[in-house]
Amino acid sequence: MAKVNRSNIGLSLLLSLLLCYFITDLEASSSHQDLNQPYRTGYHFQPPRNWMNDPNGPMIYKGIYHLFYQYNPYGAVWDVRIVWGHSTSVDLVNWTPQPPAFSPSQPSDINGCWSGSVTILPDGKPVILYTGIDENKSQVQNVAVPVNVSDPYLREWSKPPLNPLMTPNAVNGIDPDRFRDPTTAWLGLDGEWRVIVGSSTDERRGLVLLYKSRDFFNWTQSTKPLHYEDLTGMWECPDFFPVSTTGSDGVETSSFVQDEVKYVLKVSLIETLHDYYTIGSYDREKDLYVPDLGFVQDETAPRLDYGKYYASKTFYDDDKKRRILWGWVNESSPAKDDIKKGWAGLQSFPRKIWLDESGKELLQWPIEEIETLRGTQVNWHNKILEAGSTLQVHGVTAAQV
Ligand code: FRU
Repeated sequence: MAKVNRSNIGLSLLLSLLLCYFITDLEASSSHQDLNQPYRTGYHFQPPRNWMNDPNGPMIYKGIYHLFYQYNPYGAVWDVRIVWGHSTSVDLVNWTPQPPAFSPSQPSDINGCWSGSVTILPDGKPVILYTGIDENKSQVQNVAVPVNVSDPYLREWSKPPLNPLMTPNAVNGIDPDRFRDPTTAWLGLDGEWRVIVGSSTDERRGLVLLYKSRDFFNWTQSTKPLHYEDLTGMWECPDFFPVSTTGSDGVETSSFVQDEVKYVLKVSLIETLHDYYTIGSYDREKDLYVPDLGFVQDETAPRLDYGKYYASKTFYDDDKKRRILWGWVNESSPAKDDIKKGWAGLQSFPRKIWLDESGKELLQWPIEEIETLRGTQVNWHNKILEAGSTLQVHGVTAAQV
């Protein structure tokens, strides 16, 4: 993360340990560490079991945080017929598992419900756009709406018969295997919705296709993509959002305050499996995104994280006026080990994300709620931790240190 300087950590004479020992209730965690599960995390988000990949459609609705995620209910490995797992929380720390929001059920998604995003409509109702794998194994874009908007947990979702809303075909030149992961939609000055979908051409030009709609249900492809870059391969899980140039508060995705915002385009490059972002301007008249000087939307761009981290997605938290970033921590263990341990994948801490004063990089920090997981703070002064040495911490007991 941008704020941490690694070399300072090594040299520091102040050894500060934060002990997190009262870990309760987390869907992710076991408060009693299972010795056969040494890799299961203590306080990162994980479903109780099975495979998870991308975070999908994070949002806050009626004071409840929602996280959906790519989930295989049947096992610890990825499966094409993946569903939208669903959990809810009041604090982004303690999570309650809900039944999957939806699973393959209609011709437009019968072979899988892949990644997508939530848009909150002006009347406050949330709508999901997601990629379905249809009966011909083509990637198409679908919509899902809550059955009961007065339920803050949004436990039931339905798929209007209108699906699919966007399809690839020979005329628009979109490859049916490279057309996925719609973003949160935003409103234009003309009152029309816009959304982008990740894609690439046969020549490895990565791009985000732009679609427009008056009513959110009937979409037309724009003649030009919002942005592209040659020789970058498939752009998965794009994210496009405004950031404030005057402070660390978040900006709602459809905000029109042009003077005080820059835009961020993040793409997940399938060829490197990392998340890269550029900072730039969005020309609302021409519907084009132009990265600032020095930024190119390829693997030379800055990454959101330099560890195992992919398919990230942000949302605007209207309650606390911040933008929050989730990202999938994709593991490198072989499938046979995942099957043995019965699960795979976790989400990074939710992090607040904002633009640095320089306007040239994004800053991020674990959301303040994470601190509620901390117990006693132990400070040691004037201790030098030599390379390769071991230190024993006496007098404290903790499940997580
Ligand atoms: C990224 C991704 C997405 C796709 C989803 C399928 O990890 O490949 O492009 O929608 O996973 O689970």
